[in-house]
Amino acid sequence: MLEKMSDFFENRLEGYDEHMRTNVDDEGEFYAFTAAQLPQIAGAKILDLGCGTGLELEDYFALNPDAQVTGIDLCRPMLEALAGKFPDKDLRLVCASYFDEPIEKEHYDAAVSVESLHHFTKEQKIPLYRKLCAGLKEKGYFILTDYFADHQEREDYFQRELIRLKKEQGISDNDFYHYDTPLTVANETDALLQAGFAQVEVMNQWENTYTLKAVK
Ligand SMILES: C[S@@+](CC[C@H](N)C(=O)[O-])C[C@H]1O[C@@H](n2cnc3c(N)ncnc32)[C@H](O)[C@@H]1O
Repeated sequence: MLEKMSDFFENRLEGYDEHMRTNVDDEGEFYAFTAAQLPQIAGAKILDLGCGTGLELEDYFALNPDAQVTGIDLCRPMLEALAGKFPDKDLRLVCASYFDEPIEKEHYDAAVSVESLHHFTKEQKIPLYRKLCAGLKEKGYFILTDYFADHQEREDYFQRELIRLKKEQGISDNDFYHYDTPLTVANETDALLQAGFAQVEVMNQWENTYTLKAVK
């Protein structure tokens, strides 16, 4: 049965951090790599899309304790767990969908998203990436670490399956339901370029998890 996105993560909050750090591609090595790509200057303004309990932020605050981070996530209990980890950091948390939440223009030095955006289609992502690109300062960049499909056929299969499951379960509303619909790296890159990023580069790969850097 498909679960609403926020319920899915709330129901798995216990043990979530350990699962991500031990069971996902190459034991979550990508968290440290992702954090190391973000600006290391004190006071750097960072936006995290789908921050969850903040695993990437644990590694980032260890490198840059004086960063100013805004995190957006749908799931309040995940955000509460994150807030409890960093009571003394400059951390602003917003419980909302990143598709709806306005992003202040030319405000952020960099943005990051880890293991969150593989639930959405290219068509959903282009306007989000346009808003994100506008929210970055000149030469700002977006570090996307996520799960990708090996081939177009896999991408198409997951999209078809989601439509089939929603139909089967009588889900007709526009709420977000948890189901992985990863794009290929080529389609993700195209979405970022179509949204206005000037350059997109693959920085690293661990099995099906890749880190992409999109520069404004
Ligand atoms: C697999 S978790 C990743 C959390 C964290 N970045 C990490 O790697 O541990 C995915 C997160 O994305 C959030 N999420 C999914 N869709 C979202 C949306 N449309 N807006 C905001 N957050 C969303 C979920 O609530 C969940 O916390």
